[in-house]
Amino acid sequence: MKKKMYIKTWGCQMNEYDSSMITGILKKDNSYELTTYPEQADILILNTCSIREKAQEKVFHQLGRWKHIKEKNPNVIIAVGGCVATQEGKKIYKRAKYVNIIFGTQTLHRLSKMIKIASQDNKKHIIDIGFPKIEKFDYLPKPYLPKISSFVSIMEGCNKYCSFCIVPYTRGKEVSRPCDDIILEIVSLAQQGVREINLLGQNVNAYQGKKLNGTICKFAELIRLVAEIHGIDRIRFTTSHPIEFTDDIIDVYRDTPKLVSLLHLPVQSGSDRILKLMKRRYTVLEYKKIIKKLHHVRPNIQISSDFIVGFPGETQQDFQQTIQLIDDVKFDISYSFIYSPRPGTPASKLYDNVTKKEKKHRLYILQDLINKQTEYWNKKSFHTTQSVLVEGISKKNIMQLYGKTEYNRIVHFTGRPNMIGQFINLKITSGYRNSLQGTYC
Ligand code: SAH
Ligand code: F3S
Repeated sequence: MKKKMYIKTWGCQMNEYDSSMITGILKKDNSYELTTYPEQADILILNTCSIREKAQEKVFHQLGRWKHIKEKNPNVIIAVGGCVATQEGKKIYKRAKYVNIIFGTQTLHRLSKMIKIASQDNKKHIIDIGFPKIEKFDYLPKPYLPKISSFVSIMEGCNKYCSFCIVPYTRGKEVSRPCDDIILEIVSLAQQGVREINLLGQNVNAYQGKKLNGTICKFAELIRLVAEIHGIDRIRFTTSHPIEFTDDIIDVYRDTPKLVSLLHLPVQSGSDRILKLMKRRYTVLEYKKIIKKLHHVRPNIQISSDFIVGFPGETQQDFQQTIQLIDDVKFDISYSFIYSPRPGTPASKLYDNVTKKEKKHRLYILQDLINKQTEYWNKKSFHTTQSVLVEGISKKNIMQLYGKTEYNRIVHFTGRPNMIGQFINLKITSGYRNSLQGTYC
């Protein structure tokens, strides 16, 4: 009988991607299968994130719950990975002796070996949290992901050191995966029926991957190469940074219809003063210029963003400038967060005179505006024809199928199961904030 693994994942798409890799590794090398019941698992894996919350405490609460499982079954292996593991390292063992393995964001490909050691001696403390540069890309299996749309990691890490952000400390410096490896992986995914690719990285537009002939492939060229792959008809990427959003990428929007007209380009704030304190290295005007150029080559492009409210010292005027920017750009579905001081980051040392109540109030106002704009974009799509990539049978109504528009909207409609995996044209008839209804045309 196969052993069982239970994986709990916190955080961003990057962490979800890493967890899918872990699943792939353990299925292949250690013959584990996934379970949704932690009590039945032979190995419990916690893939952590420390981007915003009081992550350390959350980790120990979770481990406390798993301790009871291990008391009942001492052979259970507990492994902690991700950002908190990289940051805290062996300190985790001090408070939770019963943990077996601590692995980092860049060493999950060595997890199999660590598990073998832990299976032989359940009392041993195994730790591997280094940054072995490109090695991770070489040893990872194909991700264990759905077959129609797939993430493909193209780079890791971040060199930008925004003053509020922990990522450069937990994921290390920017490292690009070789161009030909990426293309080969996508060709193989296309052969397995994948139709949509989401190129993944902390700053995809900093991509500089080596080609076999020794020259460097930049992000714009990479998109053009992916667009040439037969079978891949839709391309997305997550996430790009305004400072490297160069004209060659704008040209790709002009020339490459396969690249979707939805761009996530985090601005964080609409105040130049706050952007400077955040060390974002662009002004509001520079950001707007990028959007203007994009609209010029792609009039139907929609932009989404991340926003941080209540950055230390953010005045009412700074906040109003953010609201003004949201109104000007008409952002689509976006993510917004109250600033959370991260230990060791420069911003955590800044004097902060904005009260928690005020921060919550600002977040409420900002999210209310974004929600209204999301509804505006939804309504705008009513009675239009949209190309939808059909992903499967609706969970709520088995008579219906669902798929996604290029604007990442879920559309439900009545269709035939053989449409799954295909692009079809649907007329959008109605909708709610989170999903639309369509008819086949
Ligand atoms: N590479 C991405 C950001 C990854 S972190 C980029 O540059 O856009 C994802 C988002 O989390 C950030 O865009 C930011 O809005 C938010 N974030 C990061 N650190 C934060 C903090 N300390 N407090 C609140 N939000 C934070
Ligand atoms: Fe974080 Fe800024 Fe990099 S938000 S991930 S340091 S671009």
